[in-house]
Amino acid sequence: MLKIFSGSSNKPLAEKICKELSLSLSLSEIHIFPDGEKRVRVLDNVSGNDTVVIQPTSYPVDENYMELFFLIDALKRSGAKSVTVVIPYLGYQRQDHIFRDGESVSLEAIVKLIEAMGVSKVVALDLHSIKIPEQFKIEISHLSALSLFAKKIKKDGLTQDAVLVSPDDGGIRRIKLLSEMLNNMPFAAIDKNRNLETGKITTEGISGKLLKKVIIVDDMISSGGTIVAAAEILKKNGVEDIYVFATHAVFSADAPKILQNSKVSKVIVTDSIFIPKNKKFKKLEILSIAPEIAKEISAK
Ligand code: R5P
Repeated sequence: MLKIFSGSSNKPLAEKICKELSLSLSLSEIHIFPDGEKRVRVLDNVSGNDTVVIQPTSYPVDENYMELFFLIDALKRSGAKSVTVVIPYLGYQRQDHIFRDGESVSLEAIVKLIEAMGVSKVVALDLHSIKIPEQFKIEISHLSALSLFAKKIKKDGLTQDAVLVSPDDGGIRRIKLLSEMLNNMPFAAIDKNRNLETGKITTEGISGKLLKKVIIVDDMISSGGTIVAAAEILKKNGVEDIYVFATHAVFSADAPKILQNSKVSKVIVTDSIFIPKNKKFKKLEILSIAPEIAKEISAK
């Protein structure tokens, strides 16, 4: 029998996944000592069971990783037959290569740690680069929110007089896939640059034809800088209405405020990362990725 556990980073998502599978979330206990150390304990009998741990490693990234590792350890010590880790948002994924001399490849270190824990399988969602799964030597399923976005775009009738836009070159593959799902909807891309020292974003131009309405699609929104810069250049080029679809609502610092005050009409994200009340804003809409994850878990 399959037993599903959740770390503390996104319990509502874990509960939704369990509901989809008509299962109850298995119990665990996470105790925090006064010095910040955590003690994790599995409260269900998992001896001989296939188990799943759900834990997006979003903010606080390092803490959420440690919790994940301790949960895996607890399950293995308690005799679990297998441990699959569902990491809907994989922290450190953007540090997947050396940008400047002397840097660590943080993602590579994380992959080694996950593998060393002895997990059987990793389930990830909309990774920053399609090359990331190649870094894992263990089985990995790379899910995507694109079909969920395509359904929403169709349902809301957003395709009329609209063009899909990638806010940078790195997202063109994503845009092409979504375009195929939407009867070859036209697409364009913004030429974006990020200064590695200051983080400042500049846009150089746009390749492709724009229409009155634009649907920006990205893997994640962190500071909101990419979206704001994209919206500004699009407006300067005559676009009237801008919708944003992004899988991961990282929403660091003032991102919610920046997005609410930006020139975009709506920001649609998934619940891969838990969004607390104080990070929600009027223009935000959250779609649940739980059915896609549940389907993958039950596909075994
Ligand atoms: C960049 O390559 C990513 O696809 C996102 O566009 C980026 O990480 C978003 O970050 P921010 O919101 O801080 O600009």
